[in-house]
Amino acid sequence: MSAPLLLILGGTTEGYALAEALAECAAPWRVLNSLAGRTENPRLPRGETRIGGFGGVEGLCALLGERGVRAVIDATHPFASTMGWNAAVACASAGVPLLRLERAPWRPQPGDNWVSVADWGEAVAELRQSGARRVLLALGRQELAPFAVLDRIAFVIRLVSAPEPRPAFAQADWIVDRGPFDLAAERTLLDRYSIDTLVCKNSGGTATSAKLEAARERGVRVLMRERPARPSTDTVSTVSEALAWLAGHVSAA
Ligand SMILES: NC(=O)c1ccc[n+]([C@@H]2O[C@H](COP(=O)([O-])OP(=O)(O)OC[C@H]3O[C@@H](n4cnc5c(N)ncnc54)[C@H](OP(=O)(O)O)[C@@H]3O)[C@@H](O)[C@H]2O)c1
Repeated sequence: MSAPLLLILGGTTEGYALAEALAECAAPWRVLNSLAGRTENPRLPRGETRIGGFGGVEGLCALLGERGVRAVIDATHPFASTMGWNAAVACASAGVPLLRLERAPWRPQPGDNWVSVADWGEAVAELRQSGARRVLLALGRQELAPFAVLDRIAFVIRLVSAPEPRPAFAQADWIVDRGPFDLAAERTLLDRYSIDTLVCKNSGGTATSAKLEAARERGVRVLMRERPARPSTDTVSTVSEALAWLAGHVSAA
């Protein structure tokens, strides 16, 4: 009898690490990784990989049945919530166990000056009334447009890749760069542009956390977009906990 099939909803550091760990350990699982297909030429995880949306809950249910998937681990990004809701509904309907693997969120530390916002509309309103003058946006390129109305603010916009066309900001410096960014580089960036406010989202993890440390040191205010609501499912924050869940909750026989 062939090993049971585990579907990993990935596209994140955690998704790659889990596939790697399963390939390296003696666990009797075959892995089917799934990537959304947003990145051109993505790095492929260990194991079989499919790329592209499933076609909503219905499409995911069909795949679970056709492939005989025995467990699903949702390791998508903390801000990729649609996939999480679809996975919860599809797994409940197909009777397939589901685990959420999600890195822990960042928490404010002594010396931080954070304001939590639920969405970018709230962040725009806050920037307008707080009198911010020089603002670093560390967001995705599809998230920029709401900020372009703030024509009295000088923005520094840092992105992995530049949007084409660029939203029409009255004052903006564009920086196209891919992390990780170290503390020295983040200090230099805040100093060079005299940044008074940083806008980012609560992704968690270490790859992009140096900006928060630099902001703390420099007394820069942080508008932190908090994570969207998720369905209540079993949740862990590390790969080793995910392996333990697989071993303990799902019979591989
Ligand atoms: N949002 C972020 O800030 C962020 C950051 C880094 C990486 N990512 C990664 O980029 C992907 C897309 O992000 P998003 O914010 O657009 O997600 P989303 O809003 O949760 O998902 C939108 C749609 O994309 C498809 N999809 C998402 N993740 C998928 C996966 N792993 N495999 C197959 N289809 C998937 C699904 O399409 P169907 O309805 O057709 O099934 C889903 O309904 C995610 O896998 C996420 O891990 C996102």
